[in-house]
Amino acid sequence: MDLENIQREAQKAIKNSSNLEELNKVFSKYCSKRGKIGLILKSLKKLSKGERIKIGKQANEAKNLLKSEFNKRTRQLSKEAVNKEESIDVTAPGKKVFLGHLHPLTLVRREVEDIFQKLGFSIIEGPEIESEWYNFDALNIPKDHPARDLWDTLWLKTEKPLLLRTHTSPVQIRYMEKNQPPLRIIVPGRVFRHEATDSSHDIQFYQIEGLMVDKDVSSANFKAVIQEFFNQFFKREIKMRLRPSYFPFTEPSFEIDMACLACNGKGCSACSKTGWMEIIGAGMVHPNVFKNSGLNPKNWQGFAFGMGLDRLAMMKYKIDDIRLLYSGDLRFINQF
Ligand code: FA5
Repeated sequence: MDLENIQREAQKAIKNSSNLEELNKVFSKYCSKRGKIGLILKSLKKLSKGERIKIGKQANEAKNLLKSEFNKRTRQLSKEAVNKEESIDVTAPGKKVFLGHLHPLTLVRREVEDIFQKLGFSIIEGPEIESEWYNFDALNIPKDHPARDLWDTLWLKTEKPLLLRTHTSPVQIRYMEKNQPPLRIIVPGRVFRHEATDSSHDIQFYQIEGLMVDKDVSSANFKAVIQEFFNQFFKREIKMRLRPSYFPFTEPSFEIDMACLACNGKGCSACSKTGWMEIIGAGMVHPNVFKNSGLNPKNWQGFAFGMGLDRLAMMKYKIDDIRLLYSGDLRFINQF
């Protein structure tokens, strides 16, 4: 094929290239050392001097022309590629945003806070890592007292004994140290216990501590507050019972059970087949607790309680195993 035809063929191929990859292939087919024009230039040495000058000139001119056409087409195709990427199809449907949702324990905590706030209680927080003093001693549980065994404690390996709080009750002391009665608080928070798990016990769970102190707050006030709370929280009249119990930091002490809603009182794994779910430990604040907080027990009296938030969630949503709440199982969690 003569040079003119090669040039024409190459010009057509450049024009018809629809992307940069194709264009690069055309470039090596014609202009590289092994390309059609490259081979002509290589074979010049075999020609006579006259022909070498003539064909050499033509071949170089063709190569230069093609090069400038390649460059032009390269710029065109690059611009088209950028435009294609940047073009926005305003009619395309928007990308769906995946919305998360709140964990059932958060839903329950917020609802509990709302109800107690309406009853005049403030929301207070305290540390999860506690000293022995606040978790035990100040709550009238001295060292070596058998009552410490009620709370299987996770101790930290620190010089000064520190622990993961076993209940939210230490915040009673912390708050009364800094605030004078009358007072009404609730303290939601995570607590930890080194104990065997089952369908109603886990090693970490949430409690809501409650404390109301004034001149003449009685256990009747406590019962009324809790009954009102249950009715509002479950949106119906809830059957509950007070059982005498023992806590070193309250006197008298009691525990509050509610008729199990997971089985409507018939008995199931959540309530250990009793028909009742223990939700709250409570009592009238012990004089020693007032003393340890810097208050005179002769001037003040009040009730305190510690409510299991997880168990409330179990009753509200009819969950028959507490461990589901911490399992991270999406089949469970996506139901809320
Ligand atoms: C206490 O922790 C006391 N601090 C409660 C208290 C506060 C009494 C103020 C008097 C005055 P108790 O260990 O019973 O008490 O726990 C209180 C509630 O936490 C229980 O009624 C239960 O609802 C919940 N609870 C206890 N242990 C577990 C556990 N392992 N897993 C889930 N919930 C639990």
